[in-house]
Amino acid sequence: MEPPEMINAGELVLKRWEPEWSAEVAAAVQESLPELAPFLPFATPDYGVAEAQEYAERSAANWAAGTEFNYAIFTTVGDLIGSIGLMTRPGPGALEIGYWMRTPWAGRGRMTAAVKVLSRVALSLPGVERLVIRHHPDNHASAAVAAKAGFVEIGREGDDVTREFRGPA
Ligand SMILES: CC(C)(COP(=O)(O)OP(=O)(O)OC[C@H]1O[C@@H](n2cnc3c(N)ncnc32)[C@H](O)[C@@H]1OP(=O)(O)O)[C@@H](O)C(=O)NCCC(=O)NCCS
Repeated sequence: MEPPEMINAGELVLKRWEPEWSAEVAAAVQESLPELAPFLPFATPDYGVAEAQEYAERSAANWAAGTEFNYAIFTTVGDLIGSIGLMTRPGPGALEIGYWMRTPWAGRGRMTAAVKVLSRVALSLPGVERLVIRHHPDNHASAAVAAKAGFVEIGREGDDVTREFRGPA
C-alpha cells in the first residue's frame, strides 16, 4: 500500500513531507500554539527547526516502512498552512487520520476539504475499508471537521472520541 506523494485538493495541495520545510513548519507551529497546544503534545514553546527536522526524517522513515504517510498542506500559491497524515496503527483494514491547521488559515473550511480528499484517496488503497479519527471530547473544531467530512462517532475510550468513515453515504 502506498498513497500518492502529491494530492490536489481544489485550492490546496498535499505533499509528502520534505525536511527543507522545517523552518517554515517551526514558524507555523509557534504561530499556532494557542490552538495546537491543548490537543497536540508536540506543540510546545520549545518546538523549533530541529524538532521539525526530526519529524520530517521520522516521516520519511515511516513512509518507507509503510506505517505512516504524512503530508504538508500548501495553498496553490505555496504557503505551508498545515499538516495531515495517515497511520496504520488501528490495524488491518483501517487507517487513522490526524491533522492540524496553521491558525491564520483556520476556520475557512480548508481542513475539511483536505480530510475529505485524503479520506477518499485512502479508501481507494488496497485493503483499506475504513478511516478512523480519535479526538478529545472538548476538541470541538476537530469534531466539526470530522463530522463535516462524514466521520461518525463509534465509541469513546478514556479521553478520546473515536469516529470512522467508510465512504460517502
Ligand atoms: C481542528 C483544526 C485542524 C480545524 O482546521 P480548520 O481549517 O479551521 O477547519 P475547518 O475550517 O474546515 O472547520 C472548522 C470547523 O470547526 C468549527 N469550530 C472551530 N472552533 C470551534 C469551537 N471552539 N467550537 C465549536 N466549533 C468550532 C468551525 O465553526 C468549523 O465548523 P463549521 O464549518 O461547521 O462552522 C484546527 O482547529 C486545528 O489545527 N486545531 C488544533 C489541532 C487539532 O486539534 N488537531 C486535531 C487533533 S484530533
